[in-house]
Amino acid sequence: MKKQVIANFKMNMTPSEIKNYIISLAPNFKSEKVDITLALPFVALSLGKFLLSGTNIFVGAQNLSEEESGTFTGETSGAMLKDIGVQSVIVGHSERRSKFKETGRAINKKIKIALKNRLQVILCVGETLTDKNSMKTLSVLSGQIDEALKGLYENELENILIAYEPVWAIGTGKVATSKEIEEGVKAIRKSIEHSFSKKAGDEIGVLYGGSINAKNISQIISCKGVNGVLVGGACLDCANFMHIISACEASK
Ligand code: 13P
Repeated sequence: MKKQVIANFKMNMTPSEIKNYIISLAPNFKSEKVDITLALPFVALSLGKFLLSGTNIFVGAQNLSEEESGTFTGETSGAMLKDIGVQSVIVGHSERRSKFKETGRAINKKIKIALKNRLQVILCVGETLTDKNSMKTLSVLSGQIDEALKGLYENELENILIAYEPVWAIGTGKVATSKEIEEGVKAIRKSIEHSFSKKAGDEIGVLYGGSINAKNISQIISCKGVNGVLVGGACLDCANFMHIISACEASK
């Protein structure tokens, strides 16, 4: 699998700012070695698709509704995302789990709707500091994965990436050590193996996210079992993000 570099813009930058960002980024990106996805705010998705047509940079959404359509004011459906050409969607980000009270059941419904609409899923999982301090990291990761992937067929995993994002590392400047990342990634693969097969556990794409920056990217991308990264704050500066992409291109 090519290394995956995914930028999660979260609720940052207006469409006009994103337009300038893409105009700076797109001409500089020539590599065939990594897949880049910009996970943009909903209001910038169509613009992003338009500006990135003819490049090999993908556009992703940061969320979708757990319902297919209907009386859900303010929601955005999987079919709507597909219709405007969005290729992937982040599901189960810890900010949505904690700030929007998103449950494992809702995450499971969202994943099924995304897959039905042929959107690639970037499923986020990760433990809180309390979980970590009480040695619950591995059980939390497997619990979140089991809930999220309940009822899925093994062949559907082809369209799923799992991002290991320890909650205590998101936006805090605290990066997990290589050992912690490798243990988390291993636990994720074991959990997939347990629910599906050894082959599925070996082959699923696993990313790391949490306080990634231009300085620590080389260490993170070289961790065993890591197929890519999900970058938050550090992607907002185009030059910084280009540096992160270059480090991923350079990694073996
Ligand atoms: P930061 O890189 O800002 O810590 O955010 C990580 C993240 O939440 C990506 O989804």
